[in-house]
Amino acid sequence: MTIGTDGNLAHAPDVEKRLQHASWLAKEAGSIALHYFTDNSNLIVERKGSQDWVSKADKKVEQFIRKSLNEAFPEDAVIGEEDGLSNSTGNNFLWIIDPIDGTTCFLKGIPQWCVVIALVKDNVTVATAIYDPVADELFTALKNHGAWCNQVRIQVDPTDSLTEGLVSVGTSVKLGAHKSARLIEKLISAGGMYSRIGSCAMGLAYVASGRLLGMYEPLIHPWDSWGGQLLVEEAGGTVISDKDGANFDRPGPTVATAPGVWEALERMLVG
Ligand code: IPD
Repeated sequence: MTIGTDGNLAHAPDVEKRLQHASWLAKEAGSIALHYFTDNSNLIVERKGSQDWVSKADKKVEQFIRKSLNEAFPEDAVIGEEDGLSNSTGNNFLWIIDPIDGTTCFLKGIPQWCVVIALVKDNVTVATAIYDPVADELFTALKNHGAWCNQVRIQVDPTDSLTEGLVSVGTSVKLGAHKSARLIEKLISAGGMYSRIGSCAMGLAYVASGRLLGMYEPLIHPWDSWGGQLLVEEAGGTVISDKDGANFDRPGPTVATAPGVWEALERMLVG
């Protein structure tokens, strides 16, 4: 993958160098996580809240990613799901990492989890590497240059009908069932179908690669969603999120779809 010199991306060589490192790092981190997934007999698990867990694997993988990023790019800030923000006074690059997005699935032996490493510059997500070690799929995206799965260009589904595939509908125990349940009811009534991918980043990667028509998460943190949002945008999809209002302490909603089904899905969400 090479970046052109069309001026679309400020400091493109810096970003390209970082994406190359993130792509390698996501795969290395993924192989550590896969080891724990394959043999979870010694995993120490703590409950952070209802339906919210952290395991020894999350912590070890996050430490590994942070160490590598700090060594390779000591000026960059890093924020992760488990250990918060470090080096906030550095340059304008911020790494957003989720060592295991989909921890519940990970702990239950369900292969719906992935490693997320996203890069933000001046509040814009400019690159992302999302790795699913079970399927050995590395999803990458570079702002204004495209999205790839294992280096093959990906695009969203070209359909304009919700009856042509699946929409992943997430839920949040903090918000209650109402919005998600209403969307599922409307989807089914319209001849569509829902699914529930247990990792927001993986669901967004599936929208980007045309496997899902869309996905909805009512309340989601930046480390689960920002990297995948860039994938969808770069694959030609539509993303609406509370990114401006969202911050790292206050999660917000995310809707991502193939453009042909955006209006229909939006009507279901607001109506
Ligand atoms: C979770 C997943 C899930 C979403 C949850 C998140 P985590 O991330 O992304 O899809 O519905 O709200 O917390 O906690 O496993 O990294």
